[in-house]
Amino acid sequence: MDRIAITGGFRLEGQLPISGAKNAALPLMCASLLTNGCLRLSNLPHLADIKTLKELLEGHGVATNVEDEGKDLSKGQTVSFTTEVITSTTAPYDIVRKMRASILVLGPLLAREGEATVSLPGGCAIGNRPIDLHLKGFEEMGATIELAEGYVRAVAPGGRLKGGLVEFPTVSVGATENILMAATLASGTTTIENAAREPEISDLANCLNAMGAKISGIGTRTLIVVGVDQLHSADYSVMPDRIEAGSYAVAAAMTRGELELIGNDLLDVLTGTVGVLKSAGLEFTQTDNGLLVKLGSDKVNGINVTTQPYPGFPTDMQAQVMAMMTLCDGASVINETIFENRFMHVPELTRMGADITVHGSTATVRGVDQLLGAPVMATDLRASMSLILAGLVADRQTFVNRIYHLDRGYERLVEKLSTCGAQIVREDGKGI
Ligand code: UD1
Repeated sequence: MDRIAITGGFRLEGQLPISGAKNAALPLMCASLLTNGCLRLSNLPHLADIKTLKELLEGHGVATNVEDEGKDLSKGQTVSFTTEVITSTTAPYDIVRKMRASILVLGPLLAREGEATVSLPGGCAIGNRPIDLHLKGFEEMGATIELAEGYVRAVAPGGRLKGGLVEFPTVSVGATENILMAATLASGTTTIENAAREPEISDLANCLNAMGAKISGIGTRTLIVVGVDQLHSADYSVMPDRIEAGSYAVAAAMTRGELELIGNDLLDVLTGTVGVLKSAGLEFTQTDNGLLVKLGSDKVNGINVTTQPYPGFPTDMQAQVMAMMTLCDGASVINETIFENRFMHVPELTRMGADITVHGSTATVRGVDQLLGAPVMATDLRASMSLILAGLVADRQTFVNRIYHLDRGYERLVEKLSTCGAQIVREDGKGI
C-alpha cells in the first residue's frame, strides 16, 4: 500500500484548480442509463470512484468512450456514455461493496427496464447508512420490493413506474437523486417533498432536463417531475467540487497562506461552508478566475458549528474544519447530526497532539499551539483529508496510511498541493 509523507510548516501560495465534483459526477453517470442516446459528460474528475462506477455501468451495457483524457491539472476528462440496450439489470456485490453510491443505478434501471436487482451496499465506515428511504420512494411509485440473499429486487408492475407523492421523513441526498431519476420516465407526475437541496441535486436535475426530462422546483424542497416516454442525448459539464474547494480553503488558512481556488461560481456552491469559515476568520475575495482565500488574522477563531443538510454546514467538511480548530484561539464545539460515527479522525488527530473530547455526537476541540507529526491511519474520505491538513502544519513529518480513501475523492491531491508549496510526496509501497 502507498502512503503520503508530509513535512509540515510550509506556507501554501498560488493557484489551485478545483476539479469536477465527485458527488455530482456519480449520479450524472447513472443518468446515462435512462436513455438509448449518448450522454457526454465533461469536467469529470480522475478518481477511483469514477472508475468503479464506470466498471459497474459497463456491466449494465453502457459503452463508454473517453473523448478527452483531460491530462492537465485544470481540466477534467470528457467521457461519453451510450446505453443502446441494457444488457443486465443486476448490480453485483463485488462492485457495489466498493462504493455505496452504486445504489444510484437502481432508479434508472427500474425506470427503463421495469425491474432491477442491486446488491445491498452493506456497512460503511461512517455509520449504518441504510437505504430504506430509497426503497420507500420506489414503493410509492408502484414498485414491489423484495430483499433476498443480500440483494434488493425492485419490480414495476406492467413494466413502468407510476408518478406519485414521495415524501421523505428525513432529507437524503441519494434517495432524492434515485427517485428523481426514476420519476423522469414514470407515467404521470411525481412530487418529491422534503427533497435534498444540495447543489449536486440541481446539477443532476439540470442535466436530466437537458436530456428531455420535465423537472421543476429545482433547488427547492419540492421537486415536480412530469414523466416522459423517453430521454435523449445531451452534453453536460460537471459542477465544481465544493468539498474539495472548502478543504483547500482550510489548507490556505491553516498554513497562513493565500490560495486562489480556480473554478466557476465557487462562492455560490460554497453556501453553508463560507459563512462558517468566515466566522473562523477566513477571508474570501472573488477574482476573475475563482476565489482568493486567506486567513485575516494570526489565529483561527474558535467556533460552534453543527452539520446540517444544504444549505447548512456540510458533514463532508466537518473533519477538515475540526483539523483547523485544533489550532484555534480558545475552544470550538462541533456537533455532527448527519452520520452517527463520523468522528473517526479524532483519535488520529489526538495522536498528533490535538486536544479533543467527544460526547456522543459533540466534539469539543481546545486549540493547542502546535501539532506534532506522526504516522496516522486514514479511515474514510474526509477524515483522510483532515489528517493531510494537520500534516501540512505539524512539526516534522506526518505519514498518512490507507490513502486509497483519498484516491476515491481528491483528484491529484499531491500534485495540487506540491504546486502551491507543500512538501508532500506519495511513497509507493511504503504504507501499512
Ligand atoms: C451523500 C454524499 C456524502 C454526504 C451525504 C450527506 C454522495 C455520493 N455522497 O451521501 O458524501 O456525506 O450525502 O450530505 O453524494 N439515510 C437513511 N435512509 C436512507 C438514506 C439515508 O436513514 O435510505 C440517512 C443516512 O444514514 C444519513 C442521512 O440519512 O444519516 C443522510 O444520508 P444521505 O443524504 O442519503 O447520504 P448519501 O446520499 O449516502
